[in-house]
Amino acid sequence: DGYRVAVVGATGAVGTRMIQMLEETSLPIDSIKYLASKRSAGQVLKFKGQDVTVEETTPDSFENVDLALFSAGGGVSKKFAPEAIKRGAVVVDNTSAFRMDPDVPLVVPEVNEQALYEHKGLIANPNCSTIQMVVALEPIRKNYGLKKVVVTTMQAVSGAGNLAIQELKDETQAYLDGEEMQAGILPASGDKKHYPIAFNPLPQIDVFEDTGYTHEEWKMIHETKKIMSDQDIQVTATCVRVPVVVSHSESVWFEIESHDASVKKIQNILSDAPGVVLQDDPEHQIYPQAINATGKKDTFVGRVRADLEQNNAFQLWVVSDNLLKGAAWNSVQIAEKLHELDLLRVPK
Ligand code: A2P
Repeated sequence: DGYRVAVVGATGAVGTRMIQMLEETSLPIDSIKYLASKRSAGQVLKFKGQDVTVEETTPDSFENVDLALFSAGGGVSKKFAPEAIKRGAVVVDNTSAFRMDPDVPLVVPEVNEQALYEHKGLIANPNCSTIQMVVALEPIRKNYGLKKVVVTTMQAVSGAGNLAIQELKDETQAYLDGEEMQAGILPASGDKKHYPIAFNPLPQIDVFEDTGYTHEEWKMIHETKKIMSDQDIQVTATCVRVPVVVSHSESVWFEIESHDASVKKIQNILSDAPGVVLQDDPEHQIYPQAINATGKKDTFVGRVRADLEQNNAFQLWVVSDNLLKGAAWNSVQIAEKLHELDLLRVPK
């Protein structure tokens, strides 16, 4: 009576965290399957101490699967998610393949769990940077209304996968050894030029669009409106890749509707908010840091300040593990909610 679960992209940066989150979940699991490309088929990984052999992903991999968590790139999701659903598996997809599809709920459980009721077999997990920002802003929006958001991100290389982590390490070593740094993946594996990330923040994540914004910035703008179900929230973003292995940091400026807020009130709201840990004590130099957030499921918020030049505007510093709340944990949390709400099945 537990679920038969498949992890697609099980060998990847997010996939290995999905496995870890599934080991810790309260979700009843009867069996688990690890899927990846042909390259890593035959590799043996663990689940709760037991050996599990990685298999190549094929349409038939999804026979007798109730829940499939995908994090193997958009192309893999586009190809195999429909096959999984057809065979009766509910898909939680961590890629951007279906996020803006009006028929697909885009869910952060702390913000819009009710959207799960609309699912038709597939639920999309939002972009990592969007998730941690909306976890921090939703409790403020609920109390005061949200007019405008201006965000600058400082994103870890693990968001671009295991090869990008290796690239940062190799370049750092080369730099320290006085050798030339070789860039082959970042800023965007799908773009023509590559630049070193070691000691060098790059203001490009994903490819550029005609507007001059990158696709990552576009995602933060449009996913925020969809998750908060409010097309009127004005959002603008600058997304920066920084030489950090895990956890994204964000500087968030926002303007609210209400004239009734204060720093103290916002701190109180954040300290009671689901999924949020307030770390805000400048006197003792307490604020969120990427190294402390890594390995944790929460979103850490600090540096709450009023804009000194504009009424009803404030600033936050928001940090979270991009592989956990930004990806693997949010996906497993969605599965837990589906189970709780008795929705973990493909609707007829
Ligand atoms: P593989 O190890 O076989 O390449 P990351 O985000 O760390 O780069 O990981 C990407 C994940 O997606 C890996 O688990 C990788 O498996 C998997 N993957 C890549 N291409 C495919 C594919 N065509 N079919 C299934 N899984 C894939």
